Amino acid sequence: MSEKAAALEALRHEAETALAPLLTPDQTQIVFGEGNPDAPLMLVGEAPGPQEDREGRPFVGKSGQLLEQVLTELGLDRSRDVWVSNVVKVWPTRRHGRSLRTRPPNAAERRASWPFFEREVRIIQPKVLLLIGGTAAKTILGRNTLRMRDVRGTWLDTPFGIPALVTYHPSYILRMQGMRPEEATQLLTQFRNDVRTAAERAGVLNADVTNAGERDDC
Ligand code: URA
Repeated sequence: MSEKAAALEALRHEAETALAPLLTPDQTQIVFGEGNPDAPLMLVGEAPGPQEDREGRPFVGKSGQLLEQVLTELGLDRSRDVWVSNVVKVWPTRRHGRSLRTRPPNAAERRASWPFFEREVRIIQPKVLLLIGGTAAKTILGRNTLRMRDVRGTWLDTPFGIPALVTYHPSYILRMQGMRPEEATQLLTQFRNDVRTAAERAGVLNADVTNAGERDDC
């Protein structure tokens, strides 16, 4: 096991112990990041959902499937080319009758998860961060508000000294597919181009893929 992998494993165990008080009987486990610890590109989402909570892995539900589809289209492999994580390590839930719904993470969940996320980034030291969705962007940039249409597709400085590109959350694209399919197609094109732009800057795309496909969001 490499030094980075060992450090991440130790951090995962530490997070599991420290964040255990956030778990109620509704959640199964803490969900830590995964992928290649040496990857130059780190993908950062908001928080695990129900599927992630069950499997203990980030981005394995519907949003994760869309993300993986885009990575594959670009010739990227999630276990080889990227590290995938979330700013919050526990599934944020609310009760709705007898079922559980996902809600945006609250301040306590963000605050408790932050030291572990911060250390995760510092161990991996990626060249580029792709911030997936408004919550990841606000948490990392330390902002209370942020308009996605102002920041999506733009490069921002982060407290880590690592450049970050902000993009849509796949769950937003999936929601749009059910409501306004044409708009969803456009969002998906922009999302794909953002992943490509981040991967290019990180140096994980080969030239064939870099030149392939449309770029009609400009
Ligand atoms: N949404 C996220 O932001 N992260 C996940 O891991 C899954 C869904």
